[in-house]
Amino acid sequence: MSKILVTGGTGYIGSHTVVELQQKGHEVIIVDNLSNSQKDVLDNIFSITGIKPEFEQFSLYDREKTLDFFSRHKEIDAIIHFAAYKAVGESVEKPLMYYHNNIFSLVNILDGMIENNIDTIVFSSSCTVYGQPDELPVSENAPIKKAMSPYGNTKQISEEVITDTVHSSKIKAILLRYFNPIGAHESAKIGELPLGVPNNLIPFITQTVIGIREQLKVFGDTYDTPDGTPIRDYIHVVDLAKAHVIAVSRMLEQKNKKNLEIFNLGTGNGYSVLEVINSFEKVTGEKLNYIIVAPRAGDVTEVWADTKFANDELGWKAEKGIDEMNLSAWNWEKALAEKKG
Ligand code: WQD
Repeated sequence: MSKILVTGGTGYIGSHTVVELQQKGHEVIIVDNLSNSQKDVLDNIFSITGIKPEFEQFSLYDREKTLDFFSRHKEIDAIIHFAAYKAVGESVEKPLMYYHNNIFSLVNILDGMIENNIDTIVFSSSCTVYGQPDELPVSENAPIKKAMSPYGNTKQISEEVITDTVHSSKIKAILLRYFNPIGAHESAKIGELPLGVPNNLIPFITQTVIGIREQLKVFGDTYDTPDGTPIRDYIHVVDLAKAHVIAVSRMLEQKNKKNLEIFNLGTGNGYSVLEVINSFEKVTGEKLNYIIVAPRAGDVTEVWADTKFANDELGWKAEKGIDEMNLSAWNWEKALAEKKG
């Protein structure tokens, strides 16, 4: 099997992907600066797979450290690049921090790949590049809309940087556009670990029900949707992780049909905020304390994925439904509370 560098591998989606890679027999090395994750995730991965990934801690926006890393690890066959800041609201307040980290890190990685003849990268992109699509479900050919946040813009710019690099080098790439990743591994040993107040819906729900937060604010119920709340395509993080293993293997086995391929990773189903809350209360038997407040700036009304290309080309389809996503998120929150004692 191959040796895969997973940048951001102690993070939420990264850690779930490391587990799936190891369980498929790949050797994994993680680079992470632990700015938004914790080192004991390595032990949690070990407790699931019995294999502790190699790990180096540094920031990939540090060009010297990044190029030095690649010169010491010529055995790497492919890269799955997750490491990036990802909070929409924070990116509006601190745009340069986002451009510096998200873009400089990518450029350093691509330079390191070229210098060391590594030619395969899977990139963590986002449905945020579509903005509010004109047509739903949204397909990979949909026009890219002007980003609604510096975070979204870094994803768009990163896709362009990779595209131009693929066209001018031996590098081949797969861009994976995530919809809304939620839930946690069935073992409840890894999951989402937001630092501070969660930006995203599901961790805010679970932290409210467990008692860390007072009340969930539902950002608006006057949207042009059946119940007035925004609609998103929520996808279980394990389904998402499995798609990364398929994508990197596709290129390692020379099955990619183009040197740059783009896939939507969603379920193809849209759920409103109130529908998600109803599902959560149903599967957990818990009551959520929430209030409807004004809409959040930058939120799109509705978006869900056209998954046909990923289903047909990757032979991948999301399997877990919204109830299982919610229950796994709740089990993870309860496991965290038990750990804290
Ligand atoms: C989902 C829905 C909110 C919190 C963003 C990024 C995307 C990805 C995931 C990084 C929306 C509502 C939320 C709350 C609420 N980022 N909500 N109260 O904004 O769809 O996607 O995060 O990987 O690229 O764009 O996700 O979870 O923040 O919001 O009512 O306290 O929940 O209005 O309708 P979003 P989200």
